[in-house]
Amino acid sequence: MAVERTLSILKPDATRRNLTGKINAKFEEAGLRIVAQKRLHLSEAQAGAFYAVHKERPFYKDLVSFMTSGPVVVQVLEGENAVAKNREIMGATNPANAAPGTIRKEFAESIEANSVHGSDSAENAAIEIAFFFSGIEIVG
Ligand code: PPS
Repeated sequence: MAVERTLSILKPDATRRNLTGKINAKFEEAGLRIVAQKRLHLSEAQAGAFYAVHKERPFYKDLVSFMTSGPVVVQVLEGENAVAKNREIMGATNPANAAPGTIRKEFAESIEANSVHGSDSAENAAIEIAFFFSGIEIVG
């Protein structure tokens, strides 16, 4: 299986509740390495640009507003099959549907405040990683 990288975001509900360490432990226990990480407070323009793909969705405004409501931690996770593995560890978007043991089942508050974002394909991972990180900031 190929070693991949994926973009992860710990959302404002997670940083507000000091869950960075507990969530990072889940990634590391599953064999994903955190090869880049920084804490940011996104502007409306930055969050709007990151989520531009969802511009036409009814929740777009709420999503941008939530993602700018507090600090986030943006990360690059590296490992075998990292994109799919991270989606598995995260659990379903809506915590009500998330499997036991997943991050969203254990920590998410709602479909909006759902603690983590993870790229949904290798192609999008490359785009999302380049949105937040330059090559020199990623140390594998
Ligand atoms: S997917 O995988 O992109 O199709 O996921 P999707 O369920 O369409 O959701 C995309 C992102 O939007 C967030 N979301 C919401 N935010 C606020 N309110 C509502 N109702 C809502 N529904 C979905 C969801 O958490 C996804 O955010 P990210 O950061 O991409 O995980």
